[in-house]
Amino acid sequence: MGLLDGKVAVITGAGGGIGKCHALAFAKEGAKVVVNDLGGARDGTGGGGAMADGVVEEIKKAGGEAAANYDSVATIEGGKAVVKTAVDSFGKIDILVNNAGILRDKTMLKMAEDMWDLVIAVHLKGTFACTQAAAAVMKDQGTGGRIINTSSTSGLLGNFGQSNYGAAKAGIAGFTRVTALELQKYGVTVNAVVPVALTRMTDDLPMFAGAKAGEIGPEFISPVVVFLASDLAKDITGKFIGIQGNMINSYSMKVSEGATKAEGMWTPQEIADSIEKIL
Ligand code: NAI
Repeated sequence: MGLLDGKVAVITGAGGGIGKCHALAFAKEGAKVVVNDLGGARDGTGGGGAMADGVVEEIKKAGGEAAANYDSVATIEGGKAVVKTAVDSFGKIDILVNNAGILRDKTMLKMAEDMWDLVIAVHLKGTFACTQAAAAVMKDQGTGGRIINTSSTSGLLGNFGQSNYGAAKAGIAGFTRVTALELQKYGVTVNAVVPVALTRMTDDLPMFAGAKAGEIGPEFISPVVVFLASDLAKDITGKFIGIQGNMINSYSMKVSEGATKAEGMWTPQEIADSIEKIL
């Protein structure tokens, strides 16, 4: 018995890195998996079917069921096509994992318009496009569903040189909170993971210098995503779960206790005098 027996899952960007680990883990738990991947380079250039096909092959060789999809998630048409592959191949969709991503790092002052647009398109619009297409089918099916997004410390805490990526990942956090509220009435949960893992996306970052793949590899992220996709997490929605190697934690917004003036509006000087309490 697998935790995801009989479920149909779409995993975007599942041709390599973290998404590939999710696809293999989902298939091992009995899910039928749509392996979506554009098959391009880390910066989003290029494309091809080889990455997705390789993962589909691996799942089938191990006795599982999988289908490939090569569309970019970055457009509404792409999102619809990815979900259509699940419905055409396996008759339904129960789980969507929005994982596809690219990087185009530059400090904000040097950021070119195309670097901004493409990163926002793949991460933020891609998450919206796939979620809208999947949630529409889940609503019609009437059997609930699971959506798991992928945020980042870059957006939740900040990271030098990633204003485009950080904005997209913080946007995904806001999108997760809102859609968790909106889709609750259909029994669809929406959560996000906040991974830290050694992949092609991170292998040149100073924080990973000397890191051992076996201690902080992408496979550590997948058990949390399987958990969130399963019946074990049926009551969990709108949460952000961080994973780094064998450490798991959660992220949440913090609102300060604040300060209230007894009567009337604050003056700028009074704000300055109370700023420590306000912050
Ligand atoms: P990766 O580069 O190995 O995987 C990303 C996959 O997405 C690639 O296979 C790529 O071909 C695919 N992809 C890119 N653009 C696409 C598009 N338009 N449509 C469909 N597929 C597309 O990188 P990694 O590390 O596995 O990243 C997976 C997710 O985790 C990303 O969303 C990333 O931002 C996020 N993440 C990763 C962290 C890490 O430490 N590795 C940290 C925080 C977040």
